[in-house]
Amino acid sequence: MNRNGKQPLQHLAWSLSKSCFFREGRRLWKENQSNSQLSLSKFQKVIVGAYLILQDFSEGIFPPTFEDQQKVYDREISYSLQWPGLSVEDSFEVAQMKPFWFSSPGFQYLSDFVAVSSCLKKINVTPSMKLLELGCGTGWMSEFLAIMGFEVVGSTLSPHDIRAANMRVESLKVKGFDKKLSFIQTPMESIEKSLENDSIGTFDCIYVYEALHHAYNWQQTIESCSTCLKSGGWLLICNEPNLIHTMVSYRVSVLSETHEIGFNRSQLIAHIEKSGFRKPKILKNRIGFGIFPLWIAAQKR
Ligand SMILES: C[S@@+](CC[C@H](N)C(=O)[O-])C[C@H]1O[C@@H](n2cnc3c(N)ncnc32)[C@H](O)[C@@H]1O
Repeated sequence: MNRNGKQPLQHLAWSLSKSCFFREGRRLWKENQSNSQLSLSKFQKVIVGAYLILQDFSEGIFPPTFEDQQKVYDREISYSLQWPGLSVEDSFEVAQMKPFWFSSPGFQYLSDFVAVSSCLKKINVTPSMKLLELGCGTGWMSEFLAIMGFEVVGSTLSPHDIRAANMRVESLKVKGFDKKLSFIQTPMESIEKSLENDSIGTFDCIYVYEALHHAYNWQQTIESCSTCLKSGGWLLICNEPNLIHTMVSYRVSVLSETHEIGFNRSQLIAHIEKSGFRKPKILKNRIGFGIFPLWIAAQKR
């Protein structure tokens, strides 16, 4: 320990954060203090995220611990309707329009939907099998898969998401579609508590798209999936961010007090195997370099 009461590694992190290498990170963070809507490129997010991580590590508060689970859930729910520069009603409307956003994220969501369907095909999960989606947002992907002929239960934490998702169910009925689509509000860490007893252990596949990295406890989520799947059923993890996302998302996590991480692929795979699944298959980005998103499937023993 040195004169400032810091361990040598903490002192090194503090010195680095004050060095010329992080001048831009310091400048961006300062600008962000006076402009909470500051929009940054991915590269800038990494720089400012790395700067904040060094700072917080030197203070002994990185990695962050979130003791109050309910508070994390509440933050996550309110953050979902606080889009930069938009009112709550406008944020709700834009969220409902997903994935039909006329811009590169919109095009990416549509192409990811094709990728998710082809992953389902690869693991032999086909219509009319029974799917459960975790962290489904306003339920667009659940709806698309229901239209394809799957029986789908979408789940999410936010009551606002559920309101929008239930409007999808209603609109399908108006179109005369008799599709098996429903939504439940539940934390993904304990889905079995919100399901009817007779549907636990009946799912052919539980999938999650860009949401597991928001979980309060991803390890518990995987264990909960193992409980809800039938024997031989599949866990499908789609486009979950790799390690670098911890830096990309850190600034927003600090500002919004939400919980978002990037995954260490080996750690994720080890935990899946420990939770009653066979050796996971890597469906995309075999060589991830800690950068590329994770697409993984694992079959319950
Ligand atoms: C980035 S959004 C992705 C939503 C959706 N997959 C989509 O493509 O629109 C993350 C979602 O996870 C939900 N979420 C966050 N933490 C959760 C938790 N612990 N349990 C269940 N859902 C959660 C959020 O409410 C949000 O709907």
